[in-house]
Amino acid sequence: MRLNKFLSNSGVASRRKCDEIIKEGKVFVNGRQVTELGTQINEKKDKVTVEGKKISLPSSFVYIKFNKPKGYACTAHDEKGRKTIYDLIPSEERLFSIGRLDYDTEGLLLLTNDGDFANKVAHPKYSIEKEYRVTVEGEIKESELAVMRKGVVVNGERMPSARVEKLSQDEKYTKLSVVIDEGQNRQVRRMFEAIGKNIHLLKRVRIGSVRLGGLKRGDYRDMTEEELNSLVRPM
Ligand code: URA
Repeated sequence: MRLNKFLSNSGVASRRKCDEIIKEGKVFVNGRQVTELGTQINEKKDKVTVEGKKISLPSSFVYIKFNKPKGYACTAHDEKGRKTIYDLIPSEERLFSIGRLDYDTEGLLLLTNDGDFANKVAHPKYSIEKEYRVTVEGEIKESELAVMRKGVVVNGERMPSARVEKLSQDEKYTKLSVVIDEGQNRQVRRMFEAIGKNIHLLKRVRIGSVRLGGLKRGDYRDMTEEELNSLVRPM
């Protein structure tokens, strides 16, 4: 197996990033530094380390869909000592989330120990749609929806356009569906901040054709073969 594939399958980083790590001289195979891209290894026998840490392939792959509740961080160790999603998903192995949700955002999050799959799903090349339910305080005017559809400008930078539909409205709140296919940091929150609206609730309900469905808050289950296959087409 190619060394960069081995590293990325083991969850070190994307293949391209792994090439950089190799070039930087951080990777050793059987105690020997390797900087040659395209190096082949025997994944069953060779001992590979990155910055001194032994790297191994997962024994079997796990793909999970999870309903992240509000108030949990998507990191293994939160610097502020807050609760993390790993308090809710006990696993012997390190599972990492494919993309992230903010601490205060709830809804669909995918987790896996298959680094290659995670990197593919997160790759901008696939531009996989993400759908959110957004509850904001007050009313939203048609003109504000039009601005968000076109791409709001935040600090001089135009955010990607989004599909935004109003679903319902009462005296206090407006509920909307927002579909984006990029995943910039805090993208949905920044879109609403830009038009001066406070988000009361933000929930992701779909990634590609994988839906949150009836999963209860804090629950998770294995993804089906069909859900997995729907996410990545061959590059
Ligand atoms: N957009 C946000 O602002 N936050 C999220 O958690 C996800 C998308």
